[in-house]
Amino acid sequence: MKQTITQFVITLVILLVIAAAGTGAFVYSGIYNIGADDHHSRPVFSLLQTLRERSIAEHSRNLQVPDLEDATLILKGAGQYAAMCTQCHLTPGMKNSEIRPGLYPQPPNLAKLRVDPKEAFWVIKHGIKMSAMPAWGSSHDDATIWSMVAFLQKLPDLSSRQYKDIVAKAPPDDDMDMDNGDDHSKDADDMPGMTMPAKATSAAPPANEPKHRGG
Ligand code: HEC
Repeated sequence: MKQTITQFVITLVILLVIAAAGTGAFVYSGIYNIGADDHHSRPVFSLLQTLRERSIAEHSRNLQVPDLEDATLILKGAGQYAAMCTQCHLTPGMKNSEIRPGLYPQPPNLAKLRVDPKEAFWVIKHGIKMSAMPAWGSSHDDATIWSMVAFLQKLPDLSSRQYKDIVAKAPPDDDMDMDNGDDHSKDADDMPGMTMPAKATSAAPPANEPKHRGG
């Protein structure tokens, strides 16, 4: 009996060593095609899909959802979405973009798909590894991310006309002040560590700037 167990353990160890060596050889050989235009096989894709779904569900489970019906929050989210997300996630009436055909995995069309608020918050904040979805939490506070989530709840119901109207009314996305021409220096304190000299502004800041900034 004891001998059988020892034999079994030795065989198992040998098999594991062979498997590890095989995996190492495969990885090191360079045979694997890492190109985004070479798609996963069905089993690999569904494995990754399950991994992604379970991870997001588990990590977002205990999040506290704020009032997503808050009109100011939705309006702010519209501006954020229009500035940062449309090339990958589209808008009502938009069929495609230059970047989308080459993305793998494909970003969902958020003008058609209504996402779960907790899961959407977590994905927007943390991004998804080995996909094009960035972690917006690196440059945006939680309140701003909730504004995008609030807007995403409305987006699938908007016509392209309604979408354009709400975006036109939305406060500008000035979180990073990337677009040199636009002077929103009053918001420099939004970003920890980003202090900008107070400049004399020629353009008056929008009067309806909502105060939903948490951090
Ligand atoms: C460069 C492209 C790109 C940009 C820009 C981008 N995303 Fe994504 N996003 C993706 C991809 C790709 C996925 C799907 C990843 C996957 O399936 O593994 C994704 C997934 C998501 C999901 C999860 C959807 C689901 O099926 O549950 C949400 C929500 C989301 N993005 C919101 C946003 C928001 C909001 C913005 C703007 C602040 C944004 N994304 C900007 C590429 C992008």
